[in-house]
Amino acid sequence: MKNIAIAIDGPAAAGKSTVAKIVANDLGFTYIDTGAMYRAFTWIVMEKGLDPENEEASCSIIPEVTISLEEDGRVICNGHDVTKAIREPRVSSNVSYIASYPKIRLALVDMQRAMAKSKSVVMDGRDIGTYVLPDAEVKIFQIASVECRAKRRYEENVSKGIPTSYEDVVADVEKRDYIDSHRAFAPLKPAADSVELDTSPMSIMEVVRAIEEIVKQKTGLEVACR
Ligand code: DC
Repeated sequence: MKNIAIAIDGPAAAGKSTVAKIVANDLGFTYIDTGAMYRAFTWIVMEKGLDPENEEASCSIIPEVTISLEEDGRVICNGHDVTKAIREPRVSSNVSYIASYPKIRLALVDMQRAMAKSKSVVMDGRDIGTYVLPDAEVKIFQIASVECRAKRRYEENVSKGIPTSYEDVVADVEKRDYIDSHRAFAPLKPAADSVELDTSPMSIMEVVRAIEEIVKQKTGLEVACR
C-alpha cells in the first residue's frame, strides 16, 4: 500500500496532538509531534545556558543536537528523557523564538521529512501542509477560540501537575499565535487545499470523527469511524 500522510496544522493548544494521536492509532499510522521537536531544541538551548532569544547562539549548537521521538511517546534529546520537561511553561514561553530561526527549522524539517518517507504518518505542527509535506493526501487546519484553547491547555497543565495560572496561559497562547503567524519563514497559515475545522464547540471525539470522515473521502481508506 502507498504511504499516506495526514497533516494537522493550527495554532497553539488547539487540541491537535490529542486528536492526531487517536486518528493515528485508529489508522495504524505513526504519529509525529513536530512541536515536541522544537520544544526539545528549546530545552537543550536553555540547558546549555544559552539565551533562546539569541539566534546565533541557539543555531550554533545545531550540529550537536539529537532529537528522537520514541514509539512509546517519549522524547529523547541528547540522551535525556525530556518528555515532561518540554511541557514546562519556561519552555512553552521560549519555543516560538527557536521555531522562528530558519537554520533550526531546516534541520528539524529534514528529520520530519525523513520520518514520513518510509511510513504512513499523522503529523501535527504549524507548517506541515504548507511546507514540510506539501503533497500530504489530507490537510486539516484545526482552530479554536483563544479562550477555549487557553482553558483546555490550563486544564491539561493542572492534570499533569504543571503549575500555571489561567491568565499566564492566555498570555502565552496569544504571544505564540502572534510569533508563529508573523515569522518570515514557514509561518502558521492554512494550506490552500486544507480543510478548516473550528473545534471550539466540539468534543475531542467529534473532532476525531470529523477528521476520519475527511480521510475516508480523500483517500478512500476505510476507517472504522467511532
Ligand atoms: O504544538 P506545540 O505547542 O507543542 O508547538 C510548540 C511551538 O513550536 C509552537 O509555538 C510553534 C512551533 N512549531 C512550529 O513552528 N512548527 C511546527 N511544525 C511545530 C511547532
